[in-house]
Amino acid sequence: MDQTTERQTRLKLAVQKAGRLTDPSLELLARCGLKLSRGRDQLLGVGENMPLDVLFVRDDDIPDLVQEDVCDLGLVGLNVIEEKRLELAARGAKARFTALRALDFGHCRLALAGPAERSYAGLESLRGLRIATTYPYLLQRFLEQRSVQAEIVRLSGAVEIAPRLGRADLICDLVSTGSTLQANHLREIETVLESHAVLIRTPVTLPAEQQDWVERLLLRIEGVEQVKESKYIMLHAPRSALPEIKLLLPGSETPTIIPLEGSPDRVAVHAVCRENVFWETLESLKRVGASAMLVLPVEKMLA
Ligand code: PRP
Ligand code: ZN
Repeated sequence: MDQTTERQTRLKLAVQKAGRLTDPSLELLARCGLKLSRGRDQLLGVGENMPLDVLFVRDDDIPDLVQEDVCDLGLVGLNVIEEKRLELAARGAKARFTALRALDFGHCRLALAGPAERSYAGLESLRGLRIATTYPYLLQRFLEQRSVQAEIVRLSGAVEIAPRLGRADLICDLVSTGSTLQANHLREIETVLESHAVLIRTPVTLPAEQQDWVERLLLRIEGVEQVKESKYIMLHAPRSALPEIKLLLPGSETPTIIPLEGSPDRVAVHAVCRENVFWETLESLKRVGASAMLVLPVEKMLA
């Protein structure tokens, strides 16, 4: 196979090299069945069982890599995507990558924070203050929409120490667990943007075979996200208790009812519950006559 054909048959997916999104991104891909030949120390992980390779890069570079078609797909935070959109708009350009799916990880928020001991008297009190951030465009939009005149101090990192160094009065940075703020004696005062991970794709039309893999990946991601909380429950119960039992099963659709050989009054019930099944639920089921209850995790689901 020559190099151009090879380039066209394998998908390239950009993932954050080292950060909050790295582990959950790799975990999602593993759950989708991808086996990577190399770890994250290398720049490139080659998919052994799918025509998909993973490129490890700085998260802020992911939107550019995808819209310039260096990578076909990217897993990146909404915060990075929205900042990039505004940056492009400021230059009169438009973002050309497309968001394919919001993902259930990387939850965090871009927030304003100030020294813990400083009292906060609402947005009006921000007038004239200096706010340090690596997200100048999102911050600017936030301030403009609320008609707050504050000074934006653009930094490229280590934002959380800016107030201590006297470079700014406040910061605007990502907060996930809150431990970075706490360690720096900062207190959150306003939310600028709620964020989570997103799967983005190139604006370029892909060859049919690659497009097919993108769609398969999307279906698998959907399956993975669906089963996260799902449980498979099996139990025996008196046929007469079925209406009560159906009400007790959390988030289940139509359960399968199976007759039990030799006991005409009792049946086996199998159901997928879309929510976790707690001990309390099992105790309630027992009270209406259920027995031999088994709760199993659901590993995969495909509609
Ligand atoms: C963010 C942010 C903080 C940290 C907050 O960095 O800059 O340092 O996460 O998380 P915490 O509330 O759990 O302490 P990120 O992982 O996005 O890396 P980057 O900004 O260097 O890309
Ligand atoms: Zn970053």
